[in-house]
Amino acid sequence: AGPCDIYASGGTPCVAAHSTTRALFSAFTGSLYQVKRGSDSATLNIAPLSAGGVANAAAQDSFCASTTCVITTIFDQTGRSNHLTQAPAGGAAGGPDNLAAADGAPVTLNGQKAYGAFISPGTGYRNDKTNGIATGDAPEGLYAVLDGTHFNGGCCFDYGNAETSADDTGNGHMEAIYFGTESFWGTGSGSGPWIMADLENGLFSGVTTGLNSADPTQTSRFLTAIVKGEPGTWAIRGGNAASGALSTFYSGARPNVAGYNPMHKEGAIILGIGGDNSDSAQGTFYEGVMTSGYPTDATENSVQANIVAAKYATTSLVSGPAVTVGSAVSFRVTTPGFNTRFIAHTGTQVNTQVVTSSNTTAVKQSASWTVVTGLGNSACVSFQSRDTANSFIRHSAFMLLVNANDGTKQFAEDATFCPKAGLNGQGNSLRAWGYPTRSFRHFNNVLYVASEGGADTFDATASYNDDVSFVVGAAFA
Ligand code: AHR
Ligand code: AHR
Repeated sequence: AGPCDIYASGGTPCVAAHSTTRALFSAFTGSLYQVKRGSDSATLNIAPLSAGGVANAAAQDSFCASTTCVITTIFDQTGRSNHLTQAPAGGAAGGPDNLAAADGAPVTLNGQKAYGAFISPGTGYRNDKTNGIATGDAPEGLYAVLDGTHFNGGCCFDYGNAETSADDTGNGHMEAIYFGTESFWGTGSGSGPWIMADLENGLFSGVTTGLNSADPTQTSRFLTAIVKGEPGTWAIRGGNAASGALSTFYSGARPNVAGYNPMHKEGAIILGIGGDNSDSAQGTFYEGVMTSGYPTDATENSVQANIVAAKYATTSLVSGPAVTVGSAVSFRVTTPGFNTRFIAHTGTQVNTQVVTSSNTTAVKQSASWTVVTGLGNSACVSFQSRDTANSFIRHSAFMLLVNANDGTKQFAEDATFCPKAGLNGQGNSLRAWGYPTRSFRHFNNVLYVASEGGADTFDATASYNDDVSFVVGAAFA
């Protein structure tokens, strides 16, 4: 059985079921998600390998070979067409939001490769015209499987029920799972991240605003997060999606703040954003559902056992020629007409310069980098300056800079890159860990992290594959 078969037998059927990794009904053979590639804007629907099975990631890999791909749609598996697509502008942020890279969150399920949806700030999915989702004070249950190590303090990495207008229409107009360290409204114990409920104008960890210490900091790489609500009552539950059982972090009365009892749910569905399209959060979504009716703890416990049996596990985040920690390297441009240039820096600016063996040591050092373990993710790498103490290549406003490590989580993540096979077949493309649609790109001889066809001039499609491919060779000095 799949999670939705379990919810159905508990009398609380799925009315939305979303996953890029696997079928959530044992009989499901339809499309799980759709990808669109940069080379020709063609799309491909990805289905499970077999009924009830894991997504056919190999089909995505071959369709997306030598180009970029984004996830355009996460299909609803319930037959109600509650599909998630690019979120529109909302009260808090313009739009449409960005789409997630198709290869940003590789995992395995029972040893078979699949991809989650890696949500960077600015990325979001939504459906404002749904069918069968709870409205008003009607009962519902939600679960999601998330990457418990991918979060931030922005508002709001959510999955669940929100406003059909994409605007903040008041307290109680949402009922979504929130995950992260946004601490303006509510917090749990420790420093986070926490599973909370986004009920609109408030992330709740219990009956009060602010701290509810029974809601613990989460540390699992794979996290099962649950929020459910019925008239007068709601709950937060969670557990390690790769082993063990669920715990209940809150179960009881609706918040003791006006507007949340009764609830005023509107029945739209959001992923990766707040109800008003607040879009500064990050996180990774693998699978999740919304039910009709308030699931019992026993039903959810069976769903958790099903998730654990799916055996989520990590896999490599890198591909292409090895970029070895501890080595000293240079990066040679491969774009025809520019391929005697190397990535260098002038002060904080990262640029390309023609460098040869006859340059001064100072110039050679400015074009040489030490590969270190990724500051923000040890499965990827960071590039340390050879001439400036404690300084690394990082992106800021999508420009590459050489900056001193200030020790923050933001710096660490901005300085982490996951090498993959060069898009033009040469060397490597250096993908930004936190923005996997973006890679190192030289543009007018200055370095950016660029997404193919994105909003900035440096995202231009012309010459993209060449501009993002660099031969990683020995350092000059
Ligand atoms: O409830 C927290 C956030 O507040 C909601 O997601 C958003 O709509 C509002 O800004
Ligand atoms: O480069 C994009 C973002 O810009 C970085 O993550 C952040 O440090 C800056 O706001």
